[in-house]
Amino acid sequence: MQTFQFYNPTRIVFGPGTVPHLSTLVPAEARVLVHFGGASAEKTGTLAEVRAALAGRHVEEFGGIEPNPSYETLIRAVELIRRDGLDFLLAVGGGSVIDGTKFVAAAVPYVGDPWEIMLSRGAKVSAALPFGTVLTLPATGSEMNDGAVISRRESGDKLVFSSPLVFPRFSILDPAKTVTLPPRQVANGIADSFVHIVEQYLTYPVDGRVQDRFAEGLLQTLIEIAPQALAVPDDLDTRANLMWTATLALNGLIGAGVPQDWATHMIGHELTARFGIDHARTLSIVLPSLLSVQREAKREKLLRYAERVWHLTEGDEDHRIEAAIAATRAFFEGLGIKTRLSDYGIERGEIEAILAQLKAHGMTKLGERRAITLEVSRAILEGAW
Ligand code: NZQ
Ligand code: ZN
Repeated sequence: MQTFQFYNPTRIVFGPGTVPHLSTLVPAEARVLVHFGGASAEKTGTLAEVRAALAGRHVEEFGGIEPNPSYETLIRAVELIRRDGLDFLLAVGGGSVIDGTKFVAAAVPYVGDPWEIMLSRGAKVSAALPFGTVLTLPATGSEMNDGAVISRRESGDKLVFSSPLVFPRFSILDPAKTVTLPPRQVANGIADSFVHIVEQYLTYPVDGRVQDRFAEGLLQTLIEIAPQALAVPDDLDTRANLMWTATLALNGLIGAGVPQDWATHMIGHELTARFGIDHARTLSIVLPSLLSVQREAKREKLLRYAERVWHLTEGDEDHRIEAAIAATRAFFEGLGIKTRLSDYGIERGEIEAILAQLKAHGMTKLGERRAITLEVSRAILEGAW
């Protein structure tokens, strides 16, 4: 196992009917800015519950944080907070609202151009406002980690930053808040969490037995609950399992002490930045092809994945690896997610432009061994077309 530190200070408050806990989780004297996305938080009644729980405090609201949250929008929240002297943030929504809140939390006290937070990948963050979250979409794990992905529309960038200063103070995980999700977002959430687990599991063995078994258990849970989660929105037990799996998929636990890949995410981010494809869909396009191109580098873990996750034990090694990659693709397709670039109307000629974006963002040595060069990314994208 590799040397590691594990740190996660986020309090999780889990279960149906837990939103009223905000009344004690948010300090009584706080001057609060509630962040939300488009119409969903208002329409579903979650905002009304939040307002009721925060009664007695000075509360302002900032809506309109879009999927793949933009710097251009978030910087307006920063101005509002500075102007009105607000000191506590509450994100109500999915990964986009939570990520946006993390950026705002770090940008308010930042001296200089806040975009430097992104360019330094978070290294320049030295302070952040405290914040909590009410999660409405199980997918990203942002509710219990210290990372955020922010886009800048004018330059076509989609960049990641992380800092231990932007762990949420608390996150309310109420599975009942997910019943209003459209099937497309449920499918996205399942696929995104699946790939988060794979990025931390399917690398090379370091005898991290607990991490491997946790990862396999989370993957199997997703495979098991996916059909029910999609078919029966108000099955709260299933939604609870989905929610907790998605959180555990990216709260640092299964990745501690083991190699991590993340090439699928980095290539996927470029697809979202260029074509606006949903995050999880970009991952479903890239991952099967990446596994195929990287089959030698990942050979031992692919064999283990085939056996332990998909129960594939027949045939020779190459056959089992092939079958595991096919099962992965079929899993995404079964969620209703297309897995080829061509399915999204993207021309083969676009691959050069995607590679140019990867190069511009310094994504030229990706993967657990930093061996995914632009040439390897080219093979992955061609295989994904
Ligand atoms: O904007 P509203 O109207 O609220 O609608 C949202 C949005 O359109 C809707 N929605 C959310 N909760 C709902 C709901 N609709 C009905 N009922 C509810 N309860 O869902 C749509 C998508 O929301 P979004 O927050 O964009 O989705 P998700 O949670 O998948 O987040 C995606 C973002 O997270 C980043 C992605 O890159 C992307 O920008 N990621 C963040 C990570 C992290 N911080 O650790 C890791 C991930 O790999 C990912 O990159
Ligand atoms: Zn993701």
